[in-house]
Amino acid sequence: PARYLSSPSTGKMGFAIADEARKRGARVTVISGPTEVRPPAGVGVVRVTTAREMHAAVLEHIGDATLFIGSAAVADLRPATVAAGKAKKEDAELTLALARNPDIIADVAAHRPRGCFVAGFAAETDDIEAAGREKLARKGLDCIVVNRIGGEIGGFASDDNEVVILWGDGGREAVARAPKSTIARRVLDRIDALRRAR
Ligand code: C5P
Repeated sequence: PARYLSSPSTGKMGFAIADEARKRGARVTVISGPTEVRPPAGVGVVRVTTAREMHAAVLEHIGDATLFIGSAAVADLRPATVAAGKAKKEDAELTLALARNPDIIADVAAHRPRGCFVAGFAAETDDIEAAGREKLARKGLDCIVVNRIGGEIGGFASDDNEVVILWGDGGREAVARAPKSTIARRVLDRIDALRRAR
């Protein structure tokens, strides 16, 4: 009830993509973790708190979706136990036992509705393209949007982003620093092109 593990992600990138997809005529469902940022108008919004709730909500809503974009900074780990009441600091264990959360996008990619295109994101600090390529392959994605975190532009919570889109065997498009609305357009343009080329 008093403490939790999370990341500084605000969901702005996902909301920008949802907004752009709706403007292009898509029927959009956003499955959002906790954030103070308002989702765009005209899209369905499903609110969840934990990674496991997000996993269940995604599987419940995926239906016959033709496109799944995973832009959430999902928590990879959760505390192994949740206290019923506030733990007293004097009695608390100083080492936190953790458990692994399900990998939502890898599950979607493995059990995708027929023909569904699956695009992921990767927030990285080092060797960002190599890390992105590794995730693209390991999670079975059709493309991945990689951005650097921890630097000046800093992905999380910022209004701008700078990304590299990776796909297939060496496909690559770099998108220079721009507002997240512009990044969303470029990402959806690339996804459109890749879907048409299939
Ligand atoms: O956290 P990671 O860098 O592995 O995230 C890469 C991609 O995997 C992102 O698209 C993210 O939304 C997704 N992801 C997920 N479930 C997790 C962890 C990450 O769907 N538990």
